[in-house]
Amino acid sequence: MGRLVIVSNRAPSIDGTGDSGGLVVALKDALAKDGGLWIGGAPEQTDTPASSLVFHHRPDFDIGLFELEPQLYRDYYFGYSNSLLWPALHGRVDLIEVQPRYAAAYSEVSRRLARMISDTVRSDDVIWVHDYQLIPLAHELRVLGCRNRIGFFLHIPVPGLETFKAIPEWRDLAAWLAEYDLIGVQTQRDLAHLINIFRHTLRGELRSNGNMGINGREVVLGCFPISINVEGFRRLAEEGSIGTPPPPLPRLIGVDRLDYSKGLPQRLAGYETFLSQYARFRSKVSLLQIAPPTRDDVEAYRDIREELELRAGHINGLYGTVDWTPVQYIHRALPRDELAVLFRLSRVGLVTPLFDGMNLVAKEYVAAQDETDPGVLILSQFAGAAEEMPQALIVNPHDPQDMAEAIKTALEMPRAERIARHEALYDYLANHDVEYWSSSFLKRLLAVETIDLHWTSRYSAYQPGVKAS
Ligand code: ADP
Ligand code: F6P
Repeated sequence: MGRLVIVSNRAPSIDGTGDSGGLVVALKDALAKDGGLWIGGAPEQTDTPASSLVFHHRPDFDIGLFELEPQLYRDYYFGYSNSLLWPALHGRVDLIEVQPRYAAAYSEVSRRLARMISDTVRSDDVIWVHDYQLIPLAHELRVLGCRNRIGFFLHIPVPGLETFKAIPEWRDLAAWLAEYDLIGVQTQRDLAHLINIFRHTLRGELRSNGNMGINGREVVLGCFPISINVEGFRRLAEEGSIGTPPPPLPRLIGVDRLDYSKGLPQRLAGYETFLSQYARFRSKVSLLQIAPPTRDDVEAYRDIREELELRAGHINGLYGTVDWTPVQYIHRALPRDELAVLFRLSRVGLVTPLFDGMNLVAKEYVAAQDETDPGVLILSQFAGAAEEMPQALIVNPHDPQDMAEAIKTALEMPRAERIARHEALYDYLANHDVEYWSSSFLKRLLAVETIDLHWTSRYSAYQPGVKAS
């Protein structure tokens, strides 16, 4: 095998200082092993973008940045990616915004990127594309004659067919996905939806090995739940908490980007129900919600911020006293080592999205706990992580009563039960960490038969935008 070439919308930092993000931590070891290349978007846009990748060398791997003009970037990232694909794939078709220029920008970015990549990849390189921002990339690379193995991993959910059809370009998206050699998704739920989409859109046929026959070739499908560096995060929490005093009251913690998929107003509604029904806990617990801003240029994100602040203010106004603030809210990102300690010193972790590809915070909370006196994870049934973490308290985030009961159960849970649940969760995670995730995906990708000989006729036959029956 040649190099591993990772492609994602966000690039890792050039100097290695921003390596705390899940994806970078996940993949940098795999890249460093055989000397790889990570291609990602430049952090700043420019009116005169370079027509080729801008390379930087790190000791562990190389980085190739692609530059975009501000307007193209806005239409591709805030527009198609985050005002259409993100809400649709998270089941929020009420929030989608359809604009022809968004679709054009989305295809244009993959087209340009494919040109830059084909100038730089070697014939034995293996290409691994990440996430919904770059779905058309394999198609564009094939059009340019690229015959490398190309894998794709979708970090966010695959919705049901009818929801998927709310995206005007749903047929194109399905066809673009089918150009990859291997498609990885987070959960069995996503895999079932993807199979159904391929069946209905491209007359895909499910084979006995779990792959799909589409247009005369086999597309390999797999479920690869992403994870974290479990032992590393545990150590960060353990070492950081030495000498740190515990909070004055048992603490519930939530840590999420301020995204409408994370169910933050619903979480506060559950907490409010808890305080209203179980008055004896008033002044005896606190909720810390850390929710940094994200994608601020999209209206739905501004709306969710207002709603959250309103609800937090409402609860504090209703139940707060001179000595007690029921909800503490921090609207910014915190360093990873601080988060790890906060997780460890919190009695309850609240991870209650309305829909989520995986949710790494759930895994971080478990990894950070003191095994001799662990906290309790309350996890939404709609987080991808729920498939792997049944020993958490699983809740329906739309039901404030269910959340209130779970909070009470968690706070009253005897130590022996907390230890038993934590042990089962931790043991599973220790055996399914991020290294396991990336190596299983790559092993599968390397096992894919090389591209069939008829690829040229297939790719010249397919025209994006032309609707299949
Ligand atoms: P998503 O990818 O949708 O943001 P995940 O839960 O899978 O959701 O991953 C979020 C990552 O971002 C986690 O590693 C988490 O620790 C980190 N993160 C979330 N909120 C903050 C914050 N306030 N400060 C620092 N890191 C954060
Ligand atoms: O996990 C889904 C995801 O979209 C990642 O692709 C991305 O890195 C993360 O959420 C944060 O989103 P963004 O890169 O748009 O800030």
